[in-house]
Amino acid sequence: MAQASPYILLTGTANPKLAEDVAKKLKTKVYNPVTRFADSEVRIRIPVNLRRASVFIIQPTSPPNVDGYFIETLLMIDAARRASAHEITVVIPYFGYARQDRKDRPRVPISSSVIARCLEFAGANRIVTIDLHSDQQQGFVQIPWDNLYASYSLIPKINLLRLKNLIIAAPDKGGVVRATAYSKRVKNEGLTIVYKERDVDSANKSEALDLIGNVKDKSVLIIDDMIDAGGTLCNAVNLIAQRGAKEIWACAAHGLFSADALEKISKSPLKKVIITDTIKPRDEVLNNKKIEIISVAPLISEAIKRIISGASISEKLIL
Ligand code: R5P
Repeated sequence: MAQASPYILLTGTANPKLAEDVAKKLKTKVYNPVTRFADSEVRIRIPVNLRRASVFIIQPTSPPNVDGYFIETLLMIDAARRASAHEITVVIPYFGYARQDRKDRPRVPISSSVIARCLEFAGANRIVTIDLHSDQQQGFVQIPWDNLYASYSLIPKINLLRLKNLIIAAPDKGGVVRATAYSKRVKNEGLTIVYKERDVDSANKSEALDLIGNVKDKSVLIIDDMIDAGGTLCNAVNLIAQRGAKEIWACAAHGLFSADALEKISKSPLKKVIITDTIKPRDEVLNNKKIEIISVAPLISEAIKRIISGASISEKLIL
């Protein structure tokens, strides 16, 4: 059996490429201990000694197998804990169920709280996420939860675009804090906020009713945490286009692109959508000319270095 190094990286089947890219940056190896039994149950066998090691499990709980990837993650945590790992950090670049973060109507679960508590129960000592849907979810557990921001990777790309007369747009009121944070770090002429109403009785249905701010003849960059079915984004794009914007761009940490999101984006007047690789991109995402993918591997590897050395994360990585 191979000897354990001071820290060990593990991945499951959700986004092994991202984990490998992180490992390359750290000049180390990543192990994927996940296979399946004949009846499809998840089987974990870690091929390296973990005794007293710091273990980092890098795995988004994302489509196309949100629940399966979650079970893989839980079982990797359990295996690492029973193998006497010193500390287990679960790096979840896209945290599935995060939008179900409150009891917003009767007889619904707070799913994200259940998921987070399961991670803690299984033995995780720390959670690391990127652009978590709402920061206060960190309070669902007693262990430290470091939420990083994809802006670390996205802002250098936005700056390279050198967009003239730029207005930063929040596609709904929940995105105002994020859009404001970008507006402080990118050269721009102001903010616009789209007023969105969600149909609480049907999933992924919303309408863009109005906007605050002036976008006439401006370049507009919409910032969101995620693009799921694409309704929020494309409704905002249509409204901003109606109000006379010169060109419209979009940026989001997580590209889920469910349902007909890609078709909606292709038909929209959007110039380009910039996302990251927190979720493994499907072939049709990789091949879509309007979509550009920036890696968060540098962000995750820097966070891992800082967790190992005890250096501050907020000082350099929370942008
Ligand atoms: C909403 O609160 C989120 O920040 C996203 O705007 C939303 O979840 C995106 O979903 P969709 O693309 O389905 O509108």
